[in-house]
Amino acid sequence: MAPPFKLTFVQSAERVSQLPPTRSEVTFVGRSNVGKSSLINALANRKNLAHVSNTPGRTRLLNMFEIDKSWPTGGVASLMDLPGYGFAKAPAAMKQNWGKMIETYLLERENLQMVVVLVDGVVGPTALDLQMLGWLRAHEIDHTVVATKQDKVKSAQRNKRKFEVASKCELEEGDIVWVSSEKGVGLDRLRTMMRSWLS
Ligand code: GTP
Ligand code: MG
Repeated sequence: MAPPFKLTFVQSAERVSQLPPTRSEVTFVGRSNVGKSSLINALANRKNLAHVSNTPGRTRLLNMFEIDKSWPTGGVASLMDLPGYGFAKAPAAMKQNWGKMIETYLLERENLQMVVVLVDGVVGPTALDLQMLGWLRAHEIDHTVVATKQDKVKSAQRNKRKFEVASKCELEEGDIVWVSSEKGVGLDRLRTMMRSWLS
């Protein structure tokens, strides 16, 4: 079993230039309300480390967490919680700022090892998710798709849904990591993958 991450909040920033350097970083992106902050809490087995909210758009900054200070390789390993895209109620100017903030971060962050793209397992990949995947592919940025809220997909639907999510993302079913932050599904697998990306 992969033990929970020991996460420490480092800082929130508006720009990548304001963040402290990291030796290796994994970042979570996904549409607003997809469950990014919930998953960070679940990986750490904590309740309120990252802010979870029913109000979409709660996470508005680049939030940096340090993982297990005692890692043997030296330097900082970190995890980023990014603001969700596609928050429908946000004013256009704000949406543009968020888009720019995320894009600049993804292009400029040094030692970014993996972008974890969260898609809602209940809703399936949205047009914006597919746009994000296309953008990451075009820029040759390493990424992995995680499907969230597995507990909310009825068990009779799960196989069909797995197929749908994978085919829309143009991936194999086995490439997609299904998780439930609520029920703890898939967390061990994801922690193990993250450790290998960060080491
Ligand atoms: P923004 O910060 O707005 O970008 O959202 P976010 O992606 O960080 O989502 P957040 O973690 O705040 O979760 C949004 C809602 O989904 C909350 O009401 C969570 O309780 C719920 N949620 C997240 N993960 C799960 C899950 O695995 N199962 C269920 N049933 N609900 C979940
Ligand atoms: Mg959040």
